[in-house]
Parts: sequence; C-alpha cells; structure tokens
Amino acid sequence: MEDKVRIPKHVSIIMDGNGRWAEERGHERVYGHTHGVESVRACTEAAVEAGVSYLSLFAFSEENWGRPEDEVSTLMKLMFKSMVDELDTLMNNQVRFVVLGNRARLSDELNRAIDSLMDRTEANDRLTLIIFLSYSGKWDILQAAKAIALECGGDRERIEALDSADIASRLVTAGIPDPDLIIRTSGEQRISNYLLWQCAYSEFIFSPVLWPDFRKKEFFSALEEFAKRDRRYGKVK
Ligand code: FPP
Repeated sequence: MEDKVRIPKHVSIIMDGNGRWAEERGHERVYGHTHGVESVRACTEAAVEAGVSYLSLFAFSEENWGRPEDEVSTLMKLMFKSMVDELDTLMNNQVRFVVLGNRARLSDELNRAIDSLMDRTEANDRLTLIIFLSYSGKWDILQAAKAIALECGGDRERIEALDSADIASRLVTAGIPDPDLIIRTSGEQRISNYLLWQCAYSEFIFSPVLWPDFRKKEFFSALEEFAKRDRRYGKVK
C-alpha cells in the first residue's frame, strides 16, 4: 500500500458465501462458517498492516435469527469460541474489539464473553474491529428514532430543530466514522439491511470471491481499487 493518503479510514465487509463454499465441497454449511473465521483473522491482520483505523464485519443480521435452529446455535457457539480464542491475536495486533447490534437477543453467556473482550481490549489503539451482531440498519434507525421521540416528547420547537447529526449520534455507531468502503463477497450485489444510514457516501466493491477464500490478497486488492475511486460526495471537483 504505497499511497497512504488513499487508505480508507473505515472498511466494512458483508461476509457472504460461507454456505455455498461448504456446499461446493460437499460439506454442511457450518463448515463454511468455521473457515470464515480464518478470513476474519486474515482481514483483521491485513487491516492493521494497511493502517486502516476501523474494520467492521456484518457477522449476523436480525433476519439471520430466522435460519434453521442448528445453524443459528452453531454460529453463536463459533462466535463465543472465537471471542475466547482470539484474545492473544487482538492484543498482539493492538486491536480494540467492539460488538454492536441488538444485544438483548444474545445469550447471557455470549454477552459476558463480549463484555470481557471489549473491556480487555479497550485501550488498544491500532485498529477498532467492530462485529455487527444481531444488527440491521432499519432496527438501528428505529431505535434512534424512539430515543429521540422520548427525549423530545411533544416539544415542537425541539422537533423542528432536529438535524441529521441528532440521528447519527443516537445510532449504535455514534462516534464511529461512516464506512468509506463497503465490500460484499460472493458476487451478490445488495445491501441486505446493513448500514443503511451510514452508507450514504460509501464506495462499494462487490467481489465474486466467497468469504472463506477472501484473505489478505483479496483485502489488499480491494484497497487498491478503492484508491482509484473518485469521491465527490454529490459535489463537483
Ligand atoms: C454469510 O454466509 C455468513 C454469515 C451469515 C456468518 C458470518 C460468520 C462468520 C464468518 C463466523 C464468525 C464470525 C466472527 C466475527 C468470529 P452465508 O451463510 O449467507 O452463505 P451463503 O450465502 O453461501 O448461504
């Protein structure tokens, strides 16, 4: 990565294609999720090496609760195991770990593991790794809207004075810069109720590579493509 100026501050990834990767190999879908964890580690290390400040990953959507029970429970166990196993990797790479989403739906055991990892990595400052868990963009906007409605009550003057910063500061991503680059793997080209508010000016890269095969090389080549993009934010040069 030669051109430091064009390194995105926040890269976000919709990790897709684990199931297909496993099925292509004659295995259960869960086999793909297990290999997907290796890609999480590889991309985290690549982001640290490239000097990215925030890497966020869409690990489980609110809609994913509707998958077969055994797949959901295996995914949750995989998250739990990764959180226990990856402490050393996070500490060695100076990575701060953050989970965002509707945590009320997660088990107490998983919530305790998340809190513990977030506490222990809180002072790390090379990269912030954000895992979106039980997250959806519409849920996020709705919970922000409810918070604002409660705060404003029926106060017309306060309601009229609201601006977009008032919404942004109540989303779960408050204080985190919007993603400069959103990558979706596996060839699908849609947003799937991800960071709906935050993606307003994100650049998108749709990679045909299935998530378990998306490693450092693929991550760096996405950064190279991003560096060539001309971002105008609705203005002219
Ligand atoms: C999408 O593939 C992937 C997921 C819904 C889960 C992603 C989870 C992991 C990689 C494992 C754990 C993550 C962390 C952060 C430790 P898919 O199942 O939708 O694949 P398909 O589209 O081929 O069916």
